[in-house]
Amino acid sequence: ADALKIGIAGLGTVGVSLVRILQDRHEMLATTCGRAIEITAVTARDRNKDRGVDLANIAWFDDAVSLASSADIDVFIELMGGAGDPAYSSVKAALQRGIHVVTANKALLAAHGIELAGIAEERGALLNYEAAVAGGIPVIKALRESMTGNTVSRVYGIMNGTCNYILTKMEKEGLSFEVCLKEAQRLGYAEADPAFDIEGNDTAHKLSILTSLAFGTAIAADDIYLEGITNISIEDIQAAADLGYRIKLLGVAQRTESGIEQRVHPTMVPYDSVIAQVDGVTNAVAIESDILGELLMVGPGAGGNATASAVLGDVADIAKSRPGAQHVPAFGRPTKALLPYKRARIQ
Ligand code: NAP
Ligand code: HSE
Repeated sequence: ADALKIGIAGLGTVGVSLVRILQDRHEMLATTCGRAIEITAVTARDRNKDRGVDLANIAWFDDAVSLASSADIDVFIELMGGAGDPAYSSVKAALQRGIHVVTANKALLAAHGIELAGIAEERGALLNYEAAVAGGIPVIKALRESMTGNTVSRVYGIMNGTCNYILTKMEKEGLSFEVCLKEAQRLGYAEADPAFDIEGNDTAHKLSILTSLAFGTAIAADDIYLEGITNISIEDIQAAADLGYRIKLLGVAQRTESGIEQRVHPTMVPYDSVIAQVDGVTNAVAIESDILGELLMVGPGAGGNATASAVLGDVADIAKSRPGAQHVPAFGRPTKALLPYKRARIQ
């Protein structure tokens, strides 16, 4: 089969990891997918930056929208971040051309996911975003595909690697919040603006996507009670430990009699629970449903390789699909079949 031609917008932590893996494992991927995956176009802000990967023989585009609109590609991979432009316009432009899109951008999906999914459906393109929630954990595939037919009652967990890394380091090494945050940034875990991590917005973006998949509703990212970890001190962590608890930033979405409840806040978790033992950049997502029962997925939640692994899985799914194959809708069901979001009544 012809090679799958991909264009990558964004060559930072995740983009560079992806390029490196695609280059190092070119032969292995060609065998596994039944066709080669070729990077034919890239873009980032600074053309002259040395990124430690070989970009010779790959077309450089000066902006993401022109790459998405005019490059000779089968898949557009958006790894720039941000809910606005150029992420939004470039993803939209690619989908309007019928080009498949893979993105790790939860802020974009929380704001525009359903609109973009609708365009993907109309144009017969795929919108894949496994890396957008809980890094390398295949939670999108679980909810979108494996758990079809289940009625989900609750989805919750640790969905931000930066916050969990900070809370763990503060507790175990007695380091200050600021030092731990700087280290998370150095390791490539944090968002470009780390306020999104520590103030809980990133967890809220991810939770809103899981809520839509779990309950079959439109995304309601603004209907989330939101509290981050900026006010948590080492004294708070020690006081919780003395009582037999650890503090974790949790995202929780549950079905109630009056509607759906979504919240993000630091939570005291009993020390002997599995969630309490999830340390560092690791994430954990629990899903409670009627047919399957309780599913708990634990794994790497951020970082170049963990995230690139999920992006690669999405690209490989496209490489393996054959013309005429039925596409899995981006949010698990056709956008027209999504239910209106109904918020829970606050008691
Ligand atoms: P990053 O290291 O900050 O890299 C962002 C890349 O996008 C850089 O190469 C930057 O160019 C490029 N870029 C930014 N604005 C641009 C613009 N206007 N036009 C063209 N290129 C632009 O970010 P990252 O950590 O790789 O994250 C990328 C995406 O993955 C984000 O949506 C993030 O939320 C998501 N994500 C990240 C992780 C993680 O662990 N890092 C995990 C899951 C999901 P320059 O290099 O030239 O500045
Ligand atoms: N900044 C995010 C985190 C990246 O720390 O979890 C993964 O989405």
